[in-house]
Amino acid sequence: MHEKITSPSLNIKGGQPLYGEVCVSGAKNSVLPLLFSTLLAEGEHEFHNVPCLTDVTMAGDILTSLGLFTKQEGPRLRVITPPELGKCPDPSAVKKMRAGILCLGPLLARGNEVQLPLPGGCVIGKRPVDLHLEGLRKLGASLEIKDNLIYAKTEKGLKGSEITLKLPSVGGTENLLMAAVLAEGKTRLQNIALEPEIFDLISYLKKMSALIKQTAPRELLIEGVEKLTPPPSHSVIPDRIEAGTLLMAGAITKGEVTVKNCEPKHLTVLLNKLKECGFIIETGETHIALKKSSVRKSVHIKTHYYPGFPTDLQAQFMALMTQLEGLSSVEETVFENRFRHISELKRLKADIEVTNQTAHIKGPTLLKGANVEATDLRAGAGLVLAGLAAEGETSVFGTHHLIRGYDNLHGKLQTLGASIDLSDSPKKPVNIEISPENAV
Ligand code: EPZ
Repeated sequence: MHEKITSPSLNIKGGQPLYGEVCVSGAKNSVLPLLFSTLLAEGEHEFHNVPCLTDVTMAGDILTSLGLFTKQEGPRLRVITPPELGKCPDPSAVKKMRAGILCLGPLLARGNEVQLPLPGGCVIGKRPVDLHLEGLRKLGASLEIKDNLIYAKTEKGLKGSEITLKLPSVGGTENLLMAAVLAEGKTRLQNIALEPEIFDLISYLKKMSALIKQTAPRELLIEGVEKLTPPPSHSVIPDRIEAGTLLMAGAITKGEVTVKNCEPKHLTVLLNKLKECGFIIETGETHIALKKSSVRKSVHIKTHYYPGFPTDLQAQFMALMTQLEGLSSVEETVFENRFRHISELKRLKADIEVTNQTAHIKGPTLLKGANVEATDLRAGAGLVLAGLAAEGETSVFGTHHLIRGYDNLHGKLQTLGASIDLSDSPKKPVNIEISPENAV
């Protein structure tokens, strides 16, 4: 289906090395579960280092539909949770953001009957929530699915249980953790996800007086308590995916970039990969500096659950691979359909072939500017990086995906010397093949 794209586009004049320092914002994938955890405790919650993202606004809309008050002023966000919560979140708000499923655990923990839309799949995969539902049933919730709506309730409140996740699901871990902290008795949660965002949520729950112990590398023991109380405030951890994206903007343009206000130890695997390519990496307490090098060797990456290579940096690294010498390869093991950026990278003349779920990238390739379409948040980031390296002008459409997860990405890139701006009208008419799933 061809249609004229009129959404704002990011317009890039590529080929300029990026130099300088840039500060990272708070982590999208941490602030979202933190926001839903406010359902667990009546009173005023205050978060600092909150990024300005449409996903944060959408999470706020879901909370507002449940009777909470939310207000973001720059990086400060306040939430006031009333004694009684509304029954059901606004279905249209939940439909807009998959992470809305994270209100299920807390609402059940507060003894609510809940109805909310079953999150659909998205362009990167089916993304079922079976592990969330199985675990909540083990905690005593009764859950029915009818016409893509989840009907959930507890007769006499949630009861602690032994739960082993079939796979270390980030959202599954977060939902069950938030359900268990107010359940009666003890819950042992095994095979949990270890992403840093999980531990930011644990630290906030403990500040609210939840009883949580890590009894083994991938195991938590949670003892339910009667009531939780908001702490004075909490600062969201830095966004490791944004930090990695900005570092790779320096790498792909043969520049030198320092990323500040970040947590280097959250990016160990990425930094080791960049060193394997030949980039010089210097780290301090809260900064990472990437220095250019004449050597830019091809490498192989295989995404995996944390602490493996982050799937959320796969598209960006693949863009970088087009500029490395030799044949690189990428295996994506977390999501079943996370190669959609490849067809768009090929519009920029990238040389990429996929055989048996592995992408093979030849480099270095002289990328040529073109009009491309972001199909999801991280694919969009990969296309921006490729546009920065390409000769000539690149317009990246589908920027509504990017503003979900990056706080002023183009502004940050401009501070590093990139020639990039966000404009409403496309610079030239755009006819881009829109496949059904990304027309949503
Ligand atoms: C979180 O998604 C992140 N989102 C994703 O970031 C990230 O890619 C993902 O974790 C993996 O790290 C947020 O934190 C808001 P999962 P989540 O449950 O929780 C399967 C971004 O770009 N699965 O760990 O949905 C699932 O299909 C986004 O910032 C089940 O089979 O991820 C997937 O293949 C994209 N059943 C795998 O597990 C379930 O019940 C990992 O999913 C749940 C998940």
